[in-house]
Amino acid sequence: MSSEANSGSVAGTATPYGLPESPVILEARGLRKIYGSGSRSLTVLADANLSLRRGEMVAIVAPSGAGKSTLLHLLAALDRPTSGAVYFASKPIESNQDSTVAEFRNRAVAFLWQRHQLLADFTATENVAMPLLLRGEGFSPSMTTARKWLAEVGLQDRTEHRAGELSGGEQQRVAIARALVTRPAVLLADEPTGDLDEQNAWAVFELLQRLHRAYQLTSLIATHNLALAARCDRVLTLEHGERDASFSLRDTKPASMAARILRRSTCCSA
Ligand SMILES: Nc1ncnc2c1ncn2[C@@H]1O[C@H](COP(=O)(O)OP(=O)(O)O)[C@@H](O)[C@H]1O
Ligand SMILES: [Mg+2]
Repeated sequence: MSSEANSGSVAGTATPYGLPESPVILEARGLRKIYGSGSRSLTVLADANLSLRRGEMVAIVAPSGAGKSTLLHLLAALDRPTSGAVYFASKPIESNQDSTVAEFRNRAVAFLWQRHQLLADFTATENVAMPLLLRGEGFSPSMTTARKWLAEVGLQDRTEHRAGELSGGEQQRVAIARALVTRPAVLLADEPTGDLDEQNAWAVFELLQRLHRAYQLTSLIATHNLALAARCDRVLTLEHGERDASFSLRDTKPASMAARILRRSTCCSA
């Protein structure tokens, strides 16, 4: 099954009053991912196409094992597709040019993991400063910027706490600050609220939504939570192929219709 997720050609992306659409910032064309080889090979993505327009907040909802993480890893250039390509601002992320990939990973895109992946023995400030230090920025300015970002996510009173001493919700806020401290254009979030209770999940989602707007991000968020997904501008689902076990991307309509569509599909529950 081929994908219908190219937002340039589907209903639901037209702007009101005939305003021009924002440019496509991140695009995947014909993404295919096969793990392993021979009789042990597993086709996860068959032909995934998607376009994220600047400023969009898009959810991707699919059952566990459908390939959400695989897709996000390919979009972030953390893994290579078997075939197909990812484009950032219309330029291919050439997986054979290490400098382009490194530049893309370091500057253009940020990844937010379900499990925050913080360094437990380092303070919140040190964790947030880490991407800046790895970039070669000075220690003092990096720590100052990190503290500003911790204040931005509501943790100005936790700057010197070790990450391991923080609650799950606080840890995910630190992870958000660490993801955004480099001022990426695109945020890819892999079930960022998946480990949190309902109240914290909403708080973290609302924080993401506020930062998305404030910093003019383009965000793609994998989630199991239909209520959160329905708050996004668009919802993508990964649907099971008719002929093989792989999943393809499907663009659902405006997010207001997403919950109805998703309830009909067998794949997801809140
Ligand atoms: N590195 C890998 N090697 C082999 N199979 C993998 C690998 N990573 C993921 N898979 C398989 O690919 C499928 C999709 O996984 P994943 O992208 O993690 O799905 P999701 O994030 O939607 O739960 C699963 O069946 C998983 O077991
Ligand atoms: Mg996953």
